Amino acid sequence: MKRIRLRVPATVANLVCGFDILGMAVHKPYDEMEFKLLDTPEIIIKHKDSFGLPEEPSKNVAGIVLLKIQEYLGSNKGFEVIIHKHIKPGSGLGSSAASAAGAAFGANALLGNIFSREEMVHFAMFGEELASGVRHADNIAPCIYGGITLVKSTNPIDIIPLNSPDLFVAAVHPQVEVKTSDARQILKKNITLKNAVEQWGNIAGLVTGIQQNDFSLIGRSLNDVIIEPVRSILIPKFDEIKTKSLEAGALGGGISGSGPSIFMLAEKRETAEKIARLMKSAYDEIGIENFIYVSKINPAGIEIVEKA
Ligand code: HSE
Repeated sequence: MKRIRLRVPATVANLVCGFDILGMAVHKPYDEMEFKLLDTPEIIIKHKDSFGLPEEPSKNVAGIVLLKIQEYLGSNKGFEVIIHKHIKPGSGLGSSAASAAGAAFGANALLGNIFSREEMVHFAMFGEELASGVRHADNIAPCIYGGITLVKSTNPIDIIPLNSPDLFVAAVHPQVEVKTSDARQILKKNITLKNAVEQWGNIAGLVTGIQQNDFSLIGRSLNDVIIEPVRSILIPKFDEIKTKSLEAGALGGGISGSGPSIFMLAEKRETAEKIARLMKSAYDEIGIENFIYVSKINPAGIEIVEKA
């Protein structure tokens, strides 16, 4: 195999209470990445999108991952990668993770599947580090594994794939800038024992609800007493959208990754579509351009859509 084309999905990190440890893949939006295996040790990155991302491999999220793989293997093989990015950088929908995970997945496929999923996560984390300064895997893991994943640890890498409940995801991406590095900077460095206990209860409840398809438990557990109260101030109309979504039948939801996107889970497509419409009109009302997405949880993660 010399060429492949990947569909690399957006991901929702944190899942409200699971800061840096929980994440899920969705179907929309997604990036497309075309890979060509080269017989020379070059890494060539081309962006076919309008985001102005750097194409120099050491400064590109996909490029750095490929450089690390090449360095690790001491290989003479190179890669040409054409990235059609549709997941807007800085959206909170795992844009950098898509490039990083896609690079690790694509290289692995062209090299004959020599790496485990944990090893792909290991290489992809160099891309996240370049993008946000932190080697977190809560977007990368669901992108590579599909569905919902628990990052039990990044050192050593210990990823637990969870069940993928049959739920719909409504998401809105308002066009306001929230940089992950800034959204991490403002977080409190210390938390109270009371809040920690409440958060542990919610995370344990959420994971149990996911594993047992207990939608009521999932809804009751989608609460964040540590991160959301601080970060939500960066997102216009967050409280209003959350309240209206719950009234419209959402199980629960909150900030997607570090924001500004907001996501909600719902049992029925009609409910998710209704929520997406109310999210849209909330931002339309105040003249903030926005994009809405409705899809199911994506159990597959990255998919090879063409190979030659
Ligand atoms: N867990 C990360 C954060 C996700 O919330 O900062 C960033 O996409």
